[in-house]
Parts: sequence; C-alpha cells; structure tokens
Amino acid sequence: MSDYLMAAVEAAQAAGGFLRAHFGQPLNVDANEAHDIKLELDRRAQELIERILLGRFPGHAFLGEEGVRGVTGSRYEWIVDPIDGTVNFFFGIPHFAVSIALRHAGKIIVGVVYDPMRDELWTAEATGPALLNGKPVHVSARTEMSDAVVSVGVAKSLESIDHGMKLFDRLGRQVKKCRMMGSAALDIAYVACGRLDAYIEGQISIWDIAAGLLLVERAGGQVLLKPHPTAHAKFSIVAKAGPLDFGVGGMQ
Ligand code: IPD
Ligand code: CA
Repeated sequence: MSDYLMAAVEAAQAAGGFLRAHFGQPLNVDANEAHDIKLELDRRAQELIERILLGRFPGHAFLGEEGVRGVTGSRYEWIVDPIDGTVNFFFGIPHFAVSIALRHAGKIIVGVVYDPMRDELWTAEATGPALLNGKPVHVSARTEMSDAVVSVGVAKSLESIDHGMKLFDRLGRQVKKCRMMGSAALDIAYVACGRLDAYIEGQISIWDIAAGLLLVERAGGQVLLKPHPTAHAKFSIVAKAGPLDFGVGGMQ
C-alpha cells in the first residue's frame, strides 16, 4: 500500500468514525434548500480529512465539496466528499459514505470509499485490483438487461430531477430493478463489487465519483464521464460492468 493510499484510508476511517458517532444525534443545519441540505458536520468532517491529508502532504492541492484548500496548481490534488449522502444522514438513513481520491497530473491514482455504518472500505490504486475490506472485487458478470439492477441518481436541480425520473421510468421497464439510493459514492462502489450492474446520473460533481471511477476501472468495469454542456462543473456519468447498453450514450 502506498503512503498516499494509507493516508487516504486513515482519513476516511477517521471521518467515518466521527460521522458514526454523530449519526442519530441532534444536528446543526447550515443550509436547507428545496432538494438538498448542508450540515455543519459536512464542514467538520472535511476539516478532519484536510488536517490528516494536508498535514501529511502540505504541498498538495485539495478540492472538497466544502471548499478548496492546500496549494492550488499542485500536480497532486485530493478530491474529497466528506459526507456523500448528506440527506440520508440527516434523515437517519444509514446509507452514506466518505469519498477520497488523489489525482496526479489529471489521472486518479488512489480511490477510497468508506461506509462507516457497515464498516465497508473500498480501495484502489492505479495498478492492482479494487479491494473491499482487503479482498479483490470484480464487476458483475451479468449480460442480460432483464437481470440487471441499476441505480439512477438525481441532483438538486429540477433539470436533473426531470432527467433522472425519465431515465428511471424507461430503465425500470427494461431491467430487473431500478434503485435511487442517495449516495453516488456508494452507488459506484457497489458497481465495482458487482452488487449493481450500473450507476447512471446526469449531473454529478467530481468529488462524488472521483474515487469510484478508479474502483470501477480496477474492478474491470467501464466509466463514461462527460462534462455537462450547461451545468457548471457537472458531469454525466455511466459506470457499468461491461457489455450492457443502457441507451444513454449521448446522455446530458
Ligand atoms: C449527492 C448524492 C446523491 C446524488 C447527488 C449528489 P451529497 O451528494 O451523491 O446520490 O444523486 O447528485 O449531489 O449532496 O449527498 O454529498
Ligand atoms: Ca456528494
């Protein structure tokens, strides 16, 4: 395990433990929007991760959902979502994760997703397999749409909700089951270990999926990621096991 992966695991487990300790406790809300919520704990969990990663690598850049830190322009950039699934967390739904990736010269070289409620830790480096709690995992081998289980995500914009619901409506008739579970980082980690056949979303931020991109690639799957033409800094994503075609090639 590289020093980078070791630091990412330490940070993810520290933040995960912190979140687990606060789960179900009274929470301070920073912002309550129509289809989203921001908690004080989002910021505090990111600060904890920043302290560990930038303490260890002070020359690195840091792009977090809760703000940019570190040395802008460094070739090493940590990409962090301290709570992916904040709405689930707030409503006491134990399905959320910490996501930490390291990008070097434009390429993701470390990916860690940690589910603190189930103590499940997915890790990958640029070479070697994707691991779940230390054991190699692989994407699903299912080849029929009728056998597939697919997660569709929606962000907070009405446009993304419309897009996701149409997709859900169409795919729901073609696959075994469609799901909408509220944590992109776990969706993509679930694709990596074969629980889901695909995860699809029209407007996602890089910190939600950076770690998962590497997990799916190292687990033998494919990720199609395209910058969204109008939504600033958003991407459309299809992360999937392999040959199945979900008819979203030109998705925006
Ligand atoms: C959200 C979750 C959700 C996805 C949204 C994300 P957050 O992240 O990953 O599953 O559909 O697009 O914004 O706000 O909980 O960190
Ligand atoms: Ca997120």
